Amino acid sequence: MRIVNKVDQLKDVIRQLKLAGNTVGFVPTMGYLHEGHLSLMRQAKQEQDIVVVSIFVNPLQFGPTEDFAVYPRDLARDSAMAESVGVDIVFAPEIEEMYPNGHSNLLTVVDVSELTEGLCGASRPGHFRGVTTVVNKLFNIVEPDVAYFGQKDAQQVAVIKQMVNDLNINVKVVAVPIVRESDGLALSSRNVFLSKDERQAALILSKSLKLASTLLAEGERNADIIRSAMTKLISDEPLAKIDYIAINDAVTLADVINIEKPVLIALAVKIGKTRLIDNMVWEG
Ligand code: PAF
Repeated sequence: MRIVNKVDQLKDVIRQLKLAGNTVGFVPTMGYLHEGHLSLMRQAKQEQDIVVVSIFVNPLQFGPTEDFAVYPRDLARDSAMAESVGVDIVFAPEIEEMYPNGHSNLLTVVDVSELTEGLCGASRPGHFRGVTTVVNKLFNIVEPDVAYFGQKDAQQVAVIKQMVNDLNINVKVVAVPIVRESDGLALSSRNVFLSKDERQAALILSKSLKLASTLLAEGERNADIIRSAMTKLISDEPLAKIDYIAINDAVTLADVINIEKPVLIALAVKIGKTRLIDNMVWEG
């Protein structure tokens, strides 16, 4: 496995691999890898000849009061994990390599409207602009055939698919299912911030999704009733503070009142100081 830090060097290496007829799978990450990331890499390795993983904590997608400075980083650990699942290239650029003129003064950004306004977009203004801008840059640098994203960031997947479609970007976007601990907690790099009690309290996210799923299985189709039941369950957990619970069309992310078509049930909850997200898609 090669670790590359420079854009031009990565472009050269990939150009040669493509000339030799290899397909390229790409897994963009912010590092501090966990089993969820590894599942993306394993799928990419199964489906493509070469797998490139980027590890870059992108300052552009963090708000001024968010956890950019303390976001966990460990390139040595991440590289070993990526190598263990057969990744061919890790791209780990410095901030200056990605944003030579500084990230706060970028003259060109990519903005997807509407889809970015609700859910995480409502409480993290500018977040998705940071994501779509860096993913666009990474797509231009890596030029992958297929890019793999985790379904845990369901809104991110919808926004990136929209961007790819709207801008005719020649990359197929694949969403890979959420990986959970055996007790239901969705894997996240931010789980390391949780104390023992918070880790226990964090189970309330997946429990609330299970409750929604039970209500749907019993025939409930009123989104307000399902949201209220989830709200009540989470409010009973003293360490949890709801950011949002959303029941939206799974494709357009438009609000849903009566559930008929597939819906995305997504939530963000603060457990202590750590903001966690989780979701499920109900296919109907
Ligand atoms: O999902 C993430 O880790 C990030 O948002 C991404 C896609 C790597 C862009 O920085």
